[in-house]
Amino acid sequence: MAISIEKKHECFVGEVSGIDCRHAMTKEDGILLNQALDQFGVLIFRNQLFTDEEQIKFSKVFGEIELAKGGNVTKDKDRRLNVQMADVSNLDKNGKLLGRSDRRRMFNLGNRLWHSDSSYRAIPAKCSLLSCRSVASTGGNTEFAFMPAAYDALDQDIKIEIEDLITEHSLLYSRGQLGFTEFSDEERKTFAPVRQKLVRTNKFTGRKSIFLSSHIGSIIGWEIPEARDFIRELMEHATNRSFVYRHSWSIGDLVVWDNRQCMHRVRRFDDANEPRDMRRTTIAGAVQTTPQIDQL
Ligand code: OGA
Ligand code: MN
Repeated sequence: MAISIEKKHECFVGEVSGIDCRHAMTKEDGILLNQALDQFGVLIFRNQLFTDEEQIKFSKVFGEIELAKGGNVTKDKDRRLNVQMADVSNLDKNGKLLGRSDRRRMFNLGNRLWHSDSSYRAIPAKCSLLSCRSVASTGGNTEFAFMPAAYDALDQDIKIEIEDLITEHSLLYSRGQLGFTEFSDEERKTFAPVRQKLVRTNKFTGRKSIFLSSHIGSIIGWEIPEARDFIRELMEHATNRSFVYRHSWSIGDLVVWDNRQCMHRVRRFDDANEPRDMRRTTIAGAVQTTPQIDQL
């Protein structure tokens, strides 16, 4: 059966059918899926009942796996999943719910803020693949916002103002927004801010987008309060409902999103009492968006 894609939102999101992601892919299908990601920003695949190994293998259609190290406060010995997977669940390595005041739970609550995965890394991620293994009874939807559409809708003077701006991203900033500020010296070092361009261009479509994320804490050359105020305003604009798709999960759903041109967030659910098992593979980006401070 040939692959077909149906658009699910006025400006982005494609639902892909005619594919079993566990089977080997032809080179042509791999190219088609990568082009679809550029074009649609978010791809939905239904009924993909993966093992972790099958998910990892399929993920490589989009590039090289980015390891989960450096992206959370879970110690290696406490990891539930292979380091090639980001554990987006609320479970510990024994499959038990994380306690209400568990540090890892507090940290993971940061996923409820709009963000782009790994924008806090010098080379930010290309895309993420999130597989749904169990669902919450209510809530726990994931929302996606399409940044090329948000960029297009900006006033011309704002487009000019942001064209060359450089921002700083860090997990310390996104977690700090929720009042999570207790980090060890080692974590502060691991999570040291990195620089990113605020405007990015998609090479395939030629479209510009605003590279926003709750990981942003400053704009180079700006005072902190004016930078944060401006980023807030851009965030508000970019997450207008007209640019947002909400995904309501079923077991077996696989959603792939392009972190270079989308933001996402998970909505509230009773995570202290109900398991929600989501497993993410992340594909590494190819290049920095701008040189880092030690490279200037
Ligand atoms: C992620 C994330 C979304 C979710 O997987 O990167 O932010 O629905 N989580 O849990
Ligand atoms: Mn995320």
